[in-house]
Amino acid sequence: MVHKKNHIIFLFLATLNIFLKTSNAASINVVSFGAKSDGKQDSSIPFLRAWSSACKSNEASTIYVPVGSFLLKQVTFWGPCINKIDFKIDGSIVAPSNYGSLGNSGYWILFMKVNWVSIFGGTIDGKGAGYWRCRKAGKRCPNGARSISFSWSNNIVVSGLTSLNSKEIHIAVDHCKNVVIKDVKIRAPSRSPNTDGINVQFSTQVTISHATIMTGDDCISINQGTTHVWIQRIACGPGHGISIGSLGAYSNEAGVENVTVTDSVFTKTENGVRIKSWAKPSNGYARNIEFRNLIMQNVYNPIIIDQRYCTKRECPHKSSGVKISSVSYEHIKGTSASPVAIKFDCSQSNPCWGLKLQDINLVYPKGSQTSSCTNAGGSISGVVNPKSCL
Ligand SMILES: *[C@@H]1O[C@H](CO)[C@@H](O)[C@H](O)[C@H]1NC(C)=O
Repeated sequence: MVHKKNHIIFLFLATLNIFLKTSNAASINVVSFGAKSDGKQDSSIPFLRAWSSACKSNEASTIYVPVGSFLLKQVTFWGPCINKIDFKIDGSIVAPSNYGSLGNSGYWILFMKVNWVSIFGGTIDGKGAGYWRCRKAGKRCPNGARSISFSWSNNIVVSGLTSLNSKEIHIAVDHCKNVVIKDVKIRAPSRSPNTDGINVQFSTQVTISHATIMTGDDCISINQGTTHVWIQRIACGPGHGISIGSLGAYSNEAGVENVTVTDSVFTKTENGVRIKSWAKPSNGYARNIEFRNLIMQNVYNPIIIDQRYCTKRECPHKSSGVKISSVSYEHIKGTSASPVAIKFDCSQSNPCWGLKLQDINLVYPKGSQTSSCTNAGGSISGVVNPKSCL
């Protein structure tokens, strides 16, 4: 009996020991590498040294960023690494407000060729105001730095992060596979230029859920070469809505396929769900797209396909080569801030086909709502208000 009890205690202590070893041995505090929490001294080198130590580690590591404010210049966390790395952030990471000091690369915090990297919590502040002023003044400005980017990386988690005032895109995902972004908060002023919330391209298996995004450009934008995207429970606005595209910028371009946007609310946004392409030749496409269970609150273009997308700088005025097909809109309700609540402006040379409207109720409170179709084909079911033009 006594023997058995001792045996159990021994097992318990042994397990505890293993637990403490695995959780302590590879925990790396950036402060122990010399990072300073005053928000003024550059902590780039200490962060890179912490990364390098984690990256070489034979066991999984956690890089810990404690409470405080840590100034980072442009940093690239290079992989591949031997093991899994988590960042646990309790404090905030701030960019220099002097945009010139980030160079012209278009990146601030970049993860490159990493595998199994997770980021938990924290705030990153891109300090974009000075850069936006440069843009608005029409001056020559360097490329706007994306705040946090993952390039050529797999198995990434970003959870509980707050991203403020990015100079350009807040979170960029490029050439990645298996990315989960959840419980993030993104905030920049409604008039900040090109401050997309989350921008994805050339990637597959991307899930974005439970995000609150208030910004000056698209809340989320899904671009060329992207498949298998799940977007759920997004609160978007102010901003330009959730966009597929701009597609068709290049004549030879990979398409977008299998994207679902569901259970989301758009408040005072320029668009709700939008597919857009440049008006010029391209072999790009968007197909198998589902938009469902969405609420629009005072949204200017709640449902829109725009194949004549142009900006002040460039309007190609040709017919878009991008092929749009099998797009369904289901259970979408709320208010439109313009009379045209549904607008399908498709390409003359490549009309949209397989558009499906089901159970739509979008009301223009100041008058009567309409829908508008150009080169668009598809079907309706259930009640569709405004009356469908398909
Ligand atoms: C898109 O989904 C369809 C239907 O589930 C599937 O057959 C197709 O392989 C998917 N495409 C990609 C690129 O994953």
